[in-house]
Amino acid sequence: MSGMSKFYITTPIYYVNDRPHIGHAYTTVAADILARWHRQQGEDVFFLTGTDEHGAKVAEAAQKAGQSPKDFCDAKAQDFKQAWQLLNIQYDNFIRTTDQKHEAAVQAVLQQLFNDGHIYKGEYEGLYCQGCEQYLTADDLVDGKCPDHQTAPQLMKEESYFFKLSAWQKELAKRIEGDELKIEPVERKNEVLSFINGGLKDISISRKNVKWGVPLPFDKEQTTYVWIDAFLNYLTGIGWSGPDVAGPRDAAEQHFTWWPAEVQLMAKDIIRVHSTIWAGMLLALGLPLPKKMFVHGFFTLAGQKISKSLGNVIWPEELVNKFGVDASRYLLMSSTPLGQDGDISWEKMTDKYNSDLANTLGNLISRVFNLIEANFDGQVEPADGVNLDIAPLMRELKLYEALQLIREKIFWANQYIDEIKLWQLVKDDKAQAAKALGELLGVIIVVGERLEPFMPQAAEKILAAARAEKIVKGEALFPKIK
Ligand code: MSP
Repeated sequence: MSGMSKFYITTPIYYVNDRPHIGHAYTTVAADILARWHRQQGEDVFFLTGTDEHGAKVAEAAQKAGQSPKDFCDAKAQDFKQAWQLLNIQYDNFIRTTDQKHEAAVQAVLQQLFNDGHIYKGEYEGLYCQGCEQYLTADDLVDGKCPDHQTAPQLMKEESYFFKLSAWQKELAKRIEGDELKIEPVERKNEVLSFINGGLKDISISRKNVKWGVPLPFDKEQTTYVWIDAFLNYLTGIGWSGPDVAGPRDAAEQHFTWWPAEVQLMAKDIIRVHSTIWAGMLLALGLPLPKKMFVHGFFTLAGQKISKSLGNVIWPEELVNKFGVDASRYLLMSSTPLGQDGDISWEKMTDKYNSDLANTLGNLISRVFNLIEANFDGQVEPADGVNLDIAPLMRELKLYEALQLIREKIFWANQYIDEIKLWQLVKDDKAQAAKALGELLGVIIVVGERLEPFMPQAAEKILAAARAEKIVKGEALFPKIK
């Protein structure tokens, strides 16, 4: 293993027509936990998130709200920032695609691709789903409707510029096949490969009738297709200002240290566009591909699609009001293995809160602290070398499994107390009891350290209490909830 390494992780940038809900929170919390864990390992970490603010969908939402697109985006971007603050998300940058520097970089990229012959003018005819901001094929439709948005796509025919994505089909397949660009879990890799091998078409990268977007530098009548604009956030968000179009072709030489990303996290709805359009753009620009795209599943809420219009939503503030920040993060991550589809409900989360946090963890801490305070004047020597190695799991993004391992340790410790009847032992054999309590205290400290990326504030409290000169029982960290 090399010593100091870098870890650059991204989330998708979220459309501002929506308020952040539990689905967006899931991705962002997962990325935050990974970023915190890698920071804890002493790595150089950059964690990027942000908002996707151009395109027809956002313009329409602004119009409905009776606001200018810019004012609307300003307010909505603020909603996302607030939600992330509430969930204790420690991002290194929050990129907005309406940032002036981002827009300038998008134009520089397009000009370069145009100059290099990767872009040509043509005419598009096809079915467009505004919800997806994507062209769909007849195969994508279910009963004539977009399955994700339950709306019929519009037939569009317009003059447009195209990116020669087809030219990259073989190269993309090769790089993905050989894991130069890893796509995980492996089912997603296989899906992507069969899609690519089925034939990649050139894609339309501009819109004549969408005004809310970045104008093409070589044809001001057209704006940049929102996805092309959006992908570039992964570069502008780390300070890249685009290729130097005026000078020699030197995009690849331009100094930016964070790229390529170690992990690009997203749900399954957008892996196809990332692994084809985004990766194809990078190849055309002569830039490295990200090391890994990790694809998590989709959440339903009590068995139903999360949907604002169906009223089937959980907002981050509701979650935090009920469970607190740390427990909310824990409950999101322990609900489903990252990569699988999951279902959440208030009932399931409440049960899990009570059993894992109030009972298992809360009990261990209060029992151990109580016995130390009552019998040893708050002082025992914690054991070193408690074995709880979650590193191999964390490197593989197995956050759910890492929490499971931590939970097993806590469970074991509670059982140990019962087995040796510690409450009796403190009376019968003080020396033995002190040794057992030292071991248990060591477990609590290691558990606290492992939980830090998941539950930063709670872990800090646990560690401060366990390392105090005099241990006291204190207040319950996770009071029971109805
Ligand atoms: N703006 C594009 C992404 C551009 S990235 C260059 C977009 N935005 S989005 O607001 O629709 O966000 C989609 C992402 O939000 C998903 O990939 C996922 O990370 C997250 N989720 C939104 N709803 C979700 C669920 N119901 N379940 C799990 N994740 C969800 O697509």
